[in-house]
Amino acid sequence: MNKDIKEVLLSHEEILTITKKLGSLISADYKNSSKPILLGLLKGCVPFMSYLMNYLTFPLEIEFMDVSSYGNDIKSSGDVKIKKDIDVSVFNRDVIICEDIVDTGQTLNTVIRLLHHRGARSVEVVTLLDKPDGRITPFKPKYIGYVIPKVFVVGFGLDYQQYYRNLPYIGILKESIYKK
Ligand code: IMP
Repeated sequence: MNKDIKEVLLSHEEILTITKKLGSLISADYKNSSKPILLGLLKGCVPFMSYLMNYLTFPLEIEFMDVSSYGNDIKSSGDVKIKKDIDVSVFNRDVIICEDIVDTGQTLNTVIRLLHHRGARSVEVVTLLDKPDGRITPFKPKYIGYVIPKVFVVGFGLDYQQYYRNLPYIGILKESIYKK
């Protein structure tokens, strides 16, 4: 897998440092909140969320949704599908959505609208990476780990055609891989 990477953007150690910082920011903000739901968007959130939750110092529930807008392409299809819904009611609950990366913003806009429609008391977003130049729908996550340019990255949960998620770092995928 390493040979398919053009450039490493974040090492594993850098990811850990960023995650710890996000954890203490969120812990300070939610210290008086009543058991928020940390809602991971599958599958890319898995490594980030499993690290982040160790640094959250308040009682919380974890839940998952699987919402897809990419299919197997490197561009968002813009058509957001809910493949797996959350298992509990969000009515009157504080929800923290945990994302690997925000690109066009369409996935999150759809999920946030849905959670508000279902009566969530508050909905905020923590994302490891933000690609603001990719936005189609205006959106700014409250907690951002690291801002990247409009490049296609893989690793630490992020995939290309379901591969590379198990790389311990985040790197730019060589164009020759997806322009075959
Ligand atoms: P959005 O609706 O375009 O913001 O989609 C965000 C989702 O697209 C993320 O959760 C990822 O699954 C996927 N995505 C966006 N950019 C990348 C990337 O550079 N590499 C891998 N997946 C990406």
